[in-house]
Amino acid sequence: MKNIGLNELRKLFLDFFESKEHLVQPSYPLVPQKDKSLLLINAGMAPLKPYFAGKEEPPKNRMATCQKCIRTGDIENVGKTARHATFFEMLGNFSFGDYFKEESLKWGWEFVTEYLQMPIDKLWATVYENDDEAFEIWEKQIGIPKEQIVRLGKEDNFWEIGIGPCGPCSELYFDRGEKFGCNDPNCKPGCECDRYVEFWNHVFTQFDKDEEGTYNPLPNPNIDTGMGLERVACIMQNVDSIFEIDTMKHILNKVCLHTNTKYNENKISDVSIRIITDHIRSIVFLISDGVLPSNEGRGYVLRRLIRRAARHGILLGKSDSFLNDVVEAVIATYGETYTELVEKQDYITKVIKVEEERFQETIHAGLEILNNFVKELELNNEKLLKGEHAFKLYDTYGFPLDLTKEILEEKNLDVDEVGFNDEMNKQRERARKARTGNNTAGWEEDVYTTLDKKITTSFVGYNDIKNKTKINAIVVDNEVVSQLNKDQKGTVILESSAFYGESGGQVGDTGLIYNQTFRGSVIDTKKGPNNQTHHVVVGEEGTIQVGDEIYTEVNELNRNNTSKNHTATHLLHKILKEVIGDHVQQAGSLVTPDRLRFDFTHFESLTPEQLNTIEHKINEKILQASKVQTFETSPEDAKQLGAEALFGEKYGDIVRVVKVGDESIELCGGTHVENSSEIGLFILINESGVASGVRRIEAITGLESYKYVKKQQDTINKVTEALKTTPTNMLSRLDALLLDIKEKEKEIEKLKSQISLGSVDDLINKAEKINGVSTIVTKVSDQNMNDLRKLGDTLKDKLQSGVILLSSTIDGKVNFVSIVTKDITQKGLNAGKIVKEAATITGGGGGGRPDMAQAGGKNPEKIDEALEKVKQILIESLK
Ligand code: ALA
Repeated sequence: MKNIGLNELRKLFLDFFESKEHLVQPSYPLVPQKDKSLLLINAGMAPLKPYFAGKEEPPKNRMATCQKCIRTGDIENVGKTARHATFFEMLGNFSFGDYFKEESLKWGWEFVTEYLQMPIDKLWATVYENDDEAFEIWEKQIGIPKEQIVRLGKEDNFWEIGIGPCGPCSELYFDRGEKFGCNDPNCKPGCECDRYVEFWNHVFTQFDKDEEGTYNPLPNPNIDTGMGLERVACIMQNVDSIFEIDTMKHILNKVCLHTNTKYNENKISDVSIRIITDHIRSIVFLISDGVLPSNEGRGYVLRRLIRRAARHGILLGKSDSFLNDVVEAVIATYGETYTELVEKQDYITKVIKVEEERFQETIHAGLEILNNFVKELELNNEKLLKGEHAFKLYDTYGFPLDLTKEILEEKNLDVDEVGFNDEMNKQRERARKARTGNNTAGWEEDVYTTLDKKITTSFVGYNDIKNKTKINAIVVDNEVVSQLNKDQKGTVILESSAFYGESGGQVGDTGLIYNQTFRGSVIDTKKGPNNQTHHVVVGEEGTIQVGDEIYTEVNELNRNNTSKNHTATHLLHKILKEVIGDHVQQAGSLVTPDRLRFDFTHFESLTPEQLNTIEHKINEKILQASKVQTFETSPEDAKQLGAEALFGEKYGDIVRVVKVGDESIELCGGTHVENSSEIGLFILINESGVASGVRRIEAITGLESYKYVKKQQDTINKVTEALKTTPTNMLSRLDALLLDIKEKEKEIEKLKSQISLGSVDDLINKAEKINGVSTIVTKVSDQNMNDLRKLGDTLKDKLQSGVILLSSTIDGKVNFVSIVTKDITQKGLNAGKIVKEAATITGGGGGGRPDMAQAGGKNPEKIDEALEKVKQILIESLK
């Protein structure tokens, strides 16, 4: 057998199937495009589900891919075994109702025996228990001895993953030899031991499993095969572990270099080295497909991987971020095939660095807390960390649950996952309550995919806003119907349409639909499957039927305003790159008639200077009155021209390019102005953060900008009128006024203290003598405890000898301060006791030293009673 490198194997496979008339497609992005049932692509067939299920037409009925896949279900085994990985590539050939078992198995055989030259005596096949057809193909047509064909049950030879296309399968196994075996004379494929490795799965996709678990037969049987590229590389390179194959070894060596470790020296550090080697690949590929670390969905998968890898770096003795240094090795290994990695290298590196550093800020504190929890568990002889503790580590210190579990496992402890999930659900509930409902209706599972595939809509809206056409289908309340009546709301599918269906961030068009007997409003337009355009129509007069001729008219003003905002968004994208750097990537956008919103990757908020520069440059570009050109070409040509494409987006064979002047050039299906000058004034309204590493800019153009400026002007006019000045003099007038106010404030302060001094004199004058002792027992105006105490001190200084009890009310609460000069305390009077008596009457409490005490009460209406009581006490005590 030849030793073949992983990159060469991938090419051999694709070339082979190209020679068998397959359309070879580059890998689809890891982020599923229209499939809400799946978080990340986990098999070669996953992005092709609509073709298998007959919901969409494939570009060709034979295809082959090498698909990037992520599976994290077995993450805790990664690094501990020779085979587990979170990232892998799957080679696959697919037939959509074209060839079936015979061709698939024969070609599979041809490829492994002739192209890869695997020795025939080492190859075994398995078939589903009652699949005699597959058995016969292997035995009679291909010639595998029947002893080397094994029938296995549903567990092994029926392939399904969640809902969707599935079916019985047949697998090819490679015999690695007795030394890997279990010595059982009956050992063969299906045995638990390591001797036979399964490497190529041929699925005879005959069913579509639905959410209820029913296997619905598909109209045409299909072929879906999957061969793990790393696995077949192990066979070809005669190594036991995926970490020994050429590409992985290169990355692993770089991990050792950057962590100052050696592989194969210590079993424990080897696990960490393998985990980092595996995870860094998933991390790099996820980021290149547009995923950013977050606490939700795929963002969380990425965050877990980065944090897990970072922690294993710490176990290897790293104290600062290092993952970003390993990125280069991943890109060197995969960049030729996956050119997006090379293009985004700086960006990928930066995202990893930011996330790793962010984690490093809390990891040490988190580890300390976890250690304390562990000590507590060990002290109490307990094995299970409380759910709320694990949640605290998650919520406050960013420890993903599996990281906490992994650390505990090293000490033979575990987490109460039910408790953790409870806490998580509580938090989700809180978040849900805080959120307003959002519209996530998807089309894939609904009625539109059941419509005849010939029902499509051709779009004429780039050039026209009106047209005459025919009604092809009507759907009301998720049911296909034949007519739409007055006051009914439904979805109308037309043969051709000028209405733009919501996509690429641009909202759907609105407008009118009518004929001699019917009139309705189009309140929204969306895109459906199979090139359908869905007009959401509310009937206002008459009835329409499928087959009717109909006139439509897009609301021109809204459309024009939307186009202005869309072209402005392209300029913004371009200028952002220019002003803040090439790492800026579009992360989302919303283009409506009123405004535009643009989300982009960047790691800190923009400075006022940057915002000014951006706004200024965009307006300059607008004023250059550049022509906007749109044309169609191949994705390759567009790339050649330098067209900006979205991360992780799959484009078809023909793409539409939008070019503003000579600079901004993007792939885009949206509507645009013909000349940049139509955009009018561009005004930046807001800049904010939306997620870690994602910023948002909101802006307006055209008439909205005019209205905005006008409103500002009105405000200014009103202000100048109120200030009795002119706009030109407004600022100096304002400065003068502010100065004036400041001086007046000073004056007020001065007067206030004079008044309060005055009141000190008043109080002194009103002091009553009881048996020769001066006493002041009184209410004063609203003062807080501090001021009241100050006032008490001033009075004491003036009085020199005596008893003081002051009371005031502020915000409904009662304050008391009592002072007894030292000489009087000797007569047995105690400030603490006095104040306590008073406070008790007003429903409170307090106390202090014999010469000075303070207290609070709740009932202001009882103050008089309290003061009276204190007077009585004084009279009694001073007798
Ligand atoms: N879809 C099949 C698998 O993933 C080929 O094994």
